[in-house]
Amino acid sequence: MKKVTKAIIPAAGLGTRMLPIAKGVPKEMLPIVDKPCIQYLIEEAAASGITDILVITGRGKQAIEDYFDYSPEYSEKLKASGKTELLESINAIANIANVSFIRQKEAKGLGHAVYCAKSFVGDEPFAVLYGDDVIFSETPVVKQLTDVYDEYGLGVVGVKSVTREQIVKYSSLKVESLHDNVYKVSDMIEKPSPDKIFSLLSILGRVVLPPEIFGILENTPRGAGNEIQLTDAMRVLTHEKGMTACEFEGTRYDIGSKVGMLIANIDRGLKHPETSEALKQYLKDLKLD
Ligand code: UTP
Repeated sequence: MKKVTKAIIPAAGLGTRMLPIAKGVPKEMLPIVDKPCIQYLIEEAAASGITDILVITGRGKQAIEDYFDYSPEYSEKLKASGKTELLESINAIANIANVSFIRQKEAKGLGHAVYCAKSFVGDEPFAVLYGDDVIFSETPVVKQLTDVYDEYGLGVVGVKSVTREQIVKYSSLKVESLHDNVYKVSDMIEKPSPDKIFSLLSILGRVVLPPEIFGILENTPRGAGNEIQLTDAMRVLTHEKGMTACEFEGTRYDIGSKVGMLIANIDRGLKHPETSEALKQYLKDLKLD
């Protein structure tokens, strides 16, 4: 069975929940402390054994490409001032993995964004990291999922339990336990109305898919929100070939929402050596009413 060595990061969404900033800066480039969100995703993929990454971008997202390129201006300045450690960390960004870019010309939905990666993926299994889900974990989540792929040879969705209020905005899965945190999926639905909820397990930010998904996406009509939904295509894959679910270990931040972005910065800021002490003190002194 082929190993998963390719990943795609759909990052072409309009980010309406992050307006007005998303109008000028791609939400994937917003920082968690001192790194743009998308760097955490690329580091997670690389740490999971992924060698080739395709980022799906769109108009106004040029800053993402520039960030993963060399930056001779900074290099010269940092070299001249002897800041070698910083210089090395800046140069390393361009070498985390083999990253390429393609544009989704119209934001027609996550399913359509994934379809843009058809020729990059070819005839191989691949991982998808949803561009606005940053996850911190002991074992990188993509690795947790590819381990399940290696075990069963079927597509894998990364899942977690969410609340009834949240699930109507995400997806809901019908599952049977296989072992530990691994399930067999028998059905799924995107943005279910309260009477259509299968369970509180929802797909959150990471999936591993076989290349057969592209043939299915070709015939997937627009669904919830009038967008071509990846979940609708994965539902067909579930029925035709079977899919598994992995309840992953890790803390997930929805950086496509304002509160998710703020929480991610507080949590990571409390862990970052340059900010933890001062931030802890600030939060201790904060008078909340
Ligand atoms: P979201 O629905 O969370 O992103 O899609 P969005 O459309 O940018 O968000 P809002 O609702 O307008 O605030 C999940 C992921 O899929 C990507 C997004 O960039 C995000 O990372 N996506 C979504 C695309 O690449 N293309 C699309 O057409 C839609």
